[in-house]
Amino acid sequence: MPTDTKITIRRPDDWHVHLRDGDVMRGVLPYTARQFARAIVMPNLSPPIASADAAVAYRERILAALPDGSDFIPLMTCYLTDTTDAADLAAGFADGVFTAAKLYPAHATTGSAHGVTDIANIEAPLARMQEIGMPLLVHGEVTDPGTDIFDREAVFIERILAPLVKRMPDLKVVFEHITTADAVGFVESAGPNVAATITPQHLHINRNAMFAGGIRPHAFCLPVAKREKHRLALRKAATSGSPKYFLGTDSAPHAVSAKESACGCAGIFNAPFALESYATVFEEEGALDRLEGFASEHGPRFYGLPLNEGAVALERADAPVPAVIDALGTPVVPFHAGEVMRWRLAS
Ligand code: NCD
Ligand code: ZN
Repeated sequence: MPTDTKITIRRPDDWHVHLRDGDVMRGVLPYTARQFARAIVMPNLSPPIASADAAVAYRERILAALPDGSDFIPLMTCYLTDTTDAADLAAGFADGVFTAAKLYPAHATTGSAHGVTDIANIEAPLARMQEIGMPLLVHGEVTDPGTDIFDREAVFIERILAPLVKRMPDLKVVFEHITTADAVGFVESAGPNVAATITPQHLHINRNAMFAGGIRPHAFCLPVAKREKHRLALRKAATSGSPKYFLGTDSAPHAVSAKESACGCAGIFNAPFALESYATVFEEEGALDRLEGFASEHGPRFYGLPLNEGAVALERADAPVPAVIDALGTPVVPFHAGEVMRWRLAS
């Protein structure tokens, strides 16, 4: 229940996170596990998590890296490739290894080199997913260099996603990390089996943030932030109370050296203050009473999973965000670095 000084909500989940592997994973995982009961773990490792065996092994590494006493549950995803076998995918879902499958158009973003080169190549896995109710998670950007980077999501809807949803009307689709009013419009017009996640950064920043006084690599992620009108459409959607929108941070840590480079990596590390960041937006929109739906209810209902037991609380207190966070030897700049959040997760 929101009051002026404290918000208590059912324990939330993160429906889109990059936990990486090895020491960096051990460094970043505690931030996700302290806020969220479950998370949909992205499979874009190198090599990608494209088989049930690989997912089981990765899940084991995540569980082994959890802080003592944590009951965090990683929900694994299968990275779709041109050669994904429909029967293997369905078996992984039936066995409870895979919660969903992820479509990365090849070369759309970090770790997508093995992605799908043509949606026609995964027609059989998609048809099977529709049959068995396995959600498809979509990185919705076209990749042809002729399409302006700020138009890639809108063009993807027109060329790929709208035809797909028409062809497979019962396929469960999560349009991941949406960034445009076009995406909101598409999700609104589609049936209840089409939903979307929204990141903190796309609710806070527009594309100017990447060029504020110089080039700002820590504001760069994919899909790239768009114009202000799109940010406003996303804020309206996220805080609307519609069950079609839910929390997915897309927290994507990269070493400072990989971001501050002549060719800086895409990805914003927002895990450390994710709930505080969302709460700020909901408060600014006068919608704190809708944070719980977005963070803790709409996601599990869409996925057909139980709501979490237990609660988390945010208190009105200053929470300064450090300039850099050490992910077990790798320095990473968090989202909101140097700012002071006005909510703090109660321990
Ligand atoms: C992600 C990453 O670094 O893995 N980067 C990003 O900008 N969001 C990949 C992705 O989700 O697109
Ligand atoms: Zn992502």
